Amino acid sequence: MRMLADNVYAVGVQHWDRRLFDELIPLPDGTSYNAYLVKGSEKTALLDTVDPEKTERLVDHLVKAGADNIDYIVSHHAEQDHSGSIPDMLLMYPDAKVVTNPKCAQMLIEHLHIEPEQIIEVEEGQTLDLGGKTLQFIYTPWVHWPETMSTWLAEDRILFSCDFFGSHMATGDLFVTDEHKTIEGAKRYYGEIMMPFRSSIRGNLKKLEPLDIRMIAPSHGPVWNNPSLIMDAYAKWVDEDAVVHKVVVPYVSMHGSTQQMVEYFVEALIDRDIPVRQFNLTVADIGEMVIELVDAATVVLGTPTVLVGAHPSAIYCAALVNALRPKTKFVGIIGSYGWGSKMVEQITGLLGNIKAQTLEPVLAKGMAKEDAYTALDDLADNILAKHQQLGIV
Ligand code: FEO
Repeated sequence: MRMLADNVYAVGVQHWDRRLFDELIPLPDGTSYNAYLVKGSEKTALLDTVDPEKTERLVDHLVKAGADNIDYIVSHHAEQDHSGSIPDMLLMYPDAKVVTNPKCAQMLIEHLHIEPEQIIEVEEGQTLDLGGKTLQFIYTPWVHWPETMSTWLAEDRILFSCDFFGSHMATGDLFVTDEHKTIEGAKRYYGEIMMPFRSSIRGNLKKLEPLDIRMIAPSHGPVWNNPSLIMDAYAKWVDEDAVVHKVVVPYVSMHGSTQQMVEYFVEALIDRDIPVRQFNLTVADIGEMVIELVDAATVVLGTPTVLVGAHPSAIYCAALVNALRPKTKFVGIIGSYGWGSKMVEQITGLLGNIKAQTLEPVLAKGMAKEDAYTALDDLADNILAKHQQLGIV
């Protein structure tokens, strides 16, 4: 059985072949639902459960870990990928109590129909002594839901952080081995659910500063046994001013006119040594685009005109970007139209949450001609100048 420390077991489940989360987020490397069993000399606690689809595997792992009895089921977060097996756990361990904060308790009652008398509510900073293993509850809300908390296991200096610091990947490794890949998985996860709440996450990071953390055990992905790696990454991602010299170009094209403009523009950026990522929205992994949105200074959306407005794929992209609220500083729109277009007004209207400066759009009637290509060169020059002014070049 896999152990993080004496009497601290990893009992969660890998979901190798899951390819989509929330019916939205692509998972090229699957995911995991981590749960941990902490045995004290007096009491035993299970920290989180798993997605209900994987309850049987959790049961197998609990049997292997010798969990004859569980006194407490700590619920850090009411979302079903971590709480979904709690009802089954309460059937298996009928004397167990669910330990959580009042907000999460209410959500568990609403989402899973857990009875209030089965729940013990804990306050911020409250401790639970298992006998030589002391759990302290730290509220770390808005790492996308308002109720999320973490648990600090003082004796072993382990922070159980739930979604916070998690990475969507299935792996047989208990601890991080491929740092680059795990950071990318964490950046994908951060970008897709936590990025809109980065001001709250800044507060959560500050709250953790006094702790001398030896390892971070999140609820997705491997355990960080070098916690500064992920904490430093988060510190950069949530820093409002820490954008990088990079342009993200999501686009869609129907008959090739917008494609030609995008390709010319991307070449113009490359000629100016501006790092760029081009994403064809018809085939792109949206998660990869989101990874780039976490810190890119500029986004330029390419779209043709359909029924006077932007292409529906571009509308979806704009709506997604608006919901995720990246810290992007500059936004541009390029594309073509047949006889008339309201796409600039439409896309701009969809980006109301983005506190970015709008760059001069470049539209071409039909196939782009010399004037459009000149305007695309000007746009690339303008982006370079803007990035130089930010001091990121
Ligand atoms: Fe991993 Fe917010 O659930």
